[in-house]
Amino acid sequence: MSVDSVLITENPNPRHIAIIMDGNGRWAQKRLMPRVLGHHAGVKAVRKIVEYCAKSGVEVLSLFAFSSENWRRPQDEVNLLMDLFMATLQSEVDKLDDNNIRLKIIGDKSAFSEKLQAKILAAEAQTANNAGLTLVIAANYGGRWDITQALQRISLAIQQGELAPQDISEQLINQYLVTADLPEPDLFIRSGGEERISNFLLWQLAYTEFYFTDVLWPEFDQDVLEQAIISFKTRQRRFGHTGEQMNQLKR
Ligand code: IPE
Ligand code: IPE
Ligand code: MG
Repeated sequence: MSVDSVLITENPNPRHIAIIMDGNGRWAQKRLMPRVLGHHAGVKAVRKIVEYCAKSGVEVLSLFAFSSENWRRPQDEVNLLMDLFMATLQSEVDKLDDNNIRLKIIGDKSAFSEKLQAKILAAEAQTANNAGLTLVIAANYGGRWDITQALQRISLAIQQGELAPQDISEQLINQYLVTADLPEPDLFIRSGGEERISNFLLWQLAYTEFYFTDVLWPEFDQDVLEQAIISFKTRQRRFGHTGEQMNQLKR
């Protein structure tokens, strides 16, 4: 069933979809394979989902690739994830560019090797003027880190006399988060069966609709994404209003 054939539409299609791609390790372990092969299979699923979103007019797709806490994993796995990130950037950037996709990496990039940081900058610069899908990859990202770096930069601006404490508002904080130029996520999806945020976009998810699926990330495909979008489209988002108020606003 295609998303457009759904009749009950409370909501238009989501502009911004944010996904926690979880379950690579378990997918591999179930097949008696090393976890690293799960991450490789995960990259294939990423390609398909990016392609689908680019074609179907999603404005922003944010993918959680490596959290601030993932450094706690065994060194071998961390190394492999870094290598895979670098290799994937290298092999995919031209294709993203050809498809008019803008790439944006969010997270504390200072922890990455200089080589990887340079690759990230180059990939972002190459695709910066593309007006199709914005693909956000969260790497060494944590929602708490994001809010912390915003507070640090706001404090600095106050210290330098560029801002006064009374200038701090929700809008101002938004402008200092690494997602400042993006619409808030409409739909949050987590694969792999866990039902938690794991320090993803904490501030930004305040009014996002959540969708959890047991499907492990390497098996996540267009059908699962369409199910999530259908679920999203049939929900009533109230933003604090009553349901009756929302119905009146729609009229
Ligand atoms: C998500 O899959 C990918 C990363 C966190 C890098 P996991 O590696 O967390 O897979 P599980 O949860 O162990 O199955
Ligand atoms: C969250 O997955 C981070 C990514 C998918 C990159 P984890 O598998 O690391 O989350 P926890 O540890 O189970 O909460
Ligand atoms: Mg996991």
